[in-house]
Amino acid sequence: MESIWFVIWCILTVFQPPNLVTAEEPVCVPGFQSDQLTFSVTRNYLTRGTVLGKVGFTDCTDRTRFLFDTSDKRFVVKTDGVLMVKRAVYLHEGHHDFFIHSWDSQGLKLTIPVSVSMNAADAQVPVLQFPKPGEGLRRRKRDWVIPPLSVPENMRGNYPLKVAQIRSAEDRTRKMFYSITGPGADLPPVGRFTMDRETGNLYVTQPLDREQTASYTFEAHAVADGAGQAEDPMEIIVNVIDQNDNKPYFTVEYNANVAEATAIGTEVVRVEAKDDDESNTDNSELRYRILNQDPPLPTHNMFEINPITGSIRVTGRGLDREKYPQYTLTVQAADMKGEGLTGQTKVILTVTDSNDNAPVFTQKSYNSRVDENKKDVVVVRMMVTDEDEPQTPAWNAKFKIVSGDPDGLFTVKTGTNKQEGILSTAKELDFERASKFTLLVSVENEIPFAPGVSVVTSTATVVVNVKDVNEAPIFDPKEMLVVKPEDLAVDEVVVQYTASDPGTARKQTVSYKIMNDPAGWLNVDKDTGLIKVRASMDREAPFVTNDRYIATIGAYDNDAVPATGTGTLIIQLEDVNDNAPIIEQHEIMVCNKDPAPQLLSVTDKDGPEFGPPYSVSLQGMSKTNWTARMNNSRTGIILNLAIELPSGNYSVILTVADKHGLEQDSIIKAEVCDCKGEDLMCTQRALGGSNLPIIRGVLGGILLLMLVLVVLFVSLRKEEQKELTSKDNIFYYNREQSREDDQVNGHQF
Ligand SMILES: *[C@@H]1O[C@H](CO)[C@@H](O)[C@H](O)[C@H]1NC(C)=O
Ligand SMILES: *[C@@H]1O[C@H](CO)[C@@H](O)[C@H](O)[C@H]1NC(C)=O
Repeated sequence: MESIWFVIWCILTVFQPPNLVTAEEPVCVPGFQSDQLTFSVTRNYLTRGTVLGKVGFTDCTDRTRFLFDTSDKRFVVKTDGVLMVKRAVYLHEGHHDFFIHSWDSQGLKLTIPVSVSMNAADAQVPVLQFPKPGEGLRRRKRDWVIPPLSVPENMRGNYPLKVAQIRSAEDRTRKMFYSITGPGADLPPVGRFTMDRETGNLYVTQPLDREQTASYTFEAHAVADGAGQAEDPMEIIVNVIDQNDNKPYFTVEYNANVAEATAIGTEVVRVEAKDDDESNTDNSELRYRILNQDPPLPTHNMFEINPITGSIRVTGRGLDREKYPQYTLTVQAADMKGEGLTGQTKVILTVTDSNDNAPVFTQKSYNSRVDENKKDVVVVRMMVTDEDEPQTPAWNAKFKIVSGDPDGLFTVKTGTNKQEGILSTAKELDFERASKFTLLVSVENEIPFAPGVSVVTSTATVVVNVKDVNEAPIFDPKEMLVVKPEDLAVDEVVVQYTASDPGTARKQTVSYKIMNDPAGWLNVDKDTGLIKVRASMDREAPFVTNDRYIATIGAYDNDAVPATGTGTLIIQLEDVNDNAPIIEQHEIMVCNKDPAPQLLSVTDKDGPEFGPPYSVSLQGMSKTNWTARMNNSRTGIILNLAIELPSGNYSVILTVADKHGLEQDSIIKAEVCDCKGEDLMCTQRALGGSNLPIIRGVLGGILLLMLVLVVLFVSLRKEEQKELTSKDNIFYYNREQSREDDQVNGHQF
């Protein structure tokens, strides 16, 4: 089929008048689609990257990309046919001519002359012919599909600029009128393209912006004068060719931290710029560079940037927060692979502290004296300095005793300022065991040193001289218990209680003295510590509790400033029957008729061993007038009148003995009254009665004083409650108060 059409087309072309041969026949002939190419420019100076237009070429296959060569290497044709300025060109005579070569499918080299001309008005534009059916082009729906037009964006010159011409073959025989419809023509953006009705010239009315609209598609129509539609509409696609008219730009400034000890090659931050030009073209192909590093210290290239990815890495040694706490990098992105337009940003890198400085002792050795026998005593304070950031774990010091203290007698802590080591005694030192220590103390930080940093751990030597102090003699045992009978004779030995002096370095003698002896019963031999009875001891004395008497003995040495140690002597007193029973009561009253028996209690200070059962007997004349016997438990005496005595005062002598027969006389004053049985009526008691009014007077005075105090107290409370009620408006208090008022009134009157 196609070959037949091809033959017909050949015949038609043979007879075609030469003036109708157009530069771009839409018929498939392998090779360039025109005999000559003219590209119109608006400036003499063509910068690198300028797109001049597109070179039409086909080998009549589906291939769309071809190899091109140029006789002038300042120009390049990309495989898609786009002609670009590779290196800047100046059009000395307003135009420049060269050749473009390509090869057909048989490998035959084809050449086309090219002219780049500054004269925009004479620019040769593509002519688009309405195709004839069967001319080898596909129809899509009812539109002809023809190669798209390419119009560079931002074209300079006098608008409207002619960009193409529409032709219909019919115009050879008839007058034709041309028009365009669709977006960019009569639809928004209306009027961007216009068409000369008579000539078919297609104009663009204003510079195009690819970043706004990259492509236009509208339809061209050809109408015969007075005959309506002569051709099917032709779809026209205008592709806006990208120009490098957008600078790369960064949307942000960058802030990042970089630790001092960051390893070389570590990424610090990654920057990214944008370019609104067509992606995947050189116009948006960015390359990154560091333009400036401030400060340029210690070297000017502390950082490097990956030109393609924008990743910034550490490349130089010597990051040092203490010297250069911050770097400002000026980073540039340039399109055209780094040769085109540029944009900049700042990258601020804050150098953060790493533990790259060791704490150092300000003094390498210390000498100190410390008393023996003292725990938690500060031996020495050692200062350190650290170059790292203060009050951080990389700065805070941590101390350690490295050697010289196998027994753990010392401890070292960090002072509150974190730059001071405080060495103190952890246990009591003993001059007699070791009088001198040489300690090695090291200092580090709370966190380890940064890897790769070479720092030396600082140490200090501390010589501790132990000071001998006069230690008090120590009693052995510290508390001594002896058991002795309470009736131990005066000058008898209680015990020998001795102390010894722990300070073996000194030749000292120990002497003794009584420190505390509440009852004054003891004597101690100054030299031997022998304790004897000085005054008779008594188990029943008030200083004895639970049979125990406690004394404190002192031992002191013969130092210029004597030290005294104490020991406690506890004498447990064994009971001895040294107390006869006594009668508690000293007076009784009894009626002389039918008298009630009187019960008298008997006690004995001695222990139960020397107590009840007791026995009682009446002495002398008392025997005739009284009877006395023990009650059933034999702890009480039942005393009674034996005969009716005249009223009056009598003395009854009773002898009471404990179970071991230790006895003692007791005199009971007995008042015999004229009465009967238990109904005591003693008329003679006028003497005792005279006291009563005095007692009443005293009691009355006390009552009056109390009353005054009560009144004072109540009125004070009243004041307080007034405040309360006025503040809180609580009625409960009001009621309370009025009740109290009543009470107070009642008291006063
Ligand atoms: C015993 O009673 C008589 C009176 O009957 C009296 O005279 C005498 O003094 C009394 N003896 C003693 C020791 O009270
Ligand atoms: C005997 O008298 C004593 C002393 O008043 C009393 O404590 C005790 O209970 C009496 N014993 C008897 C069996 O009544």
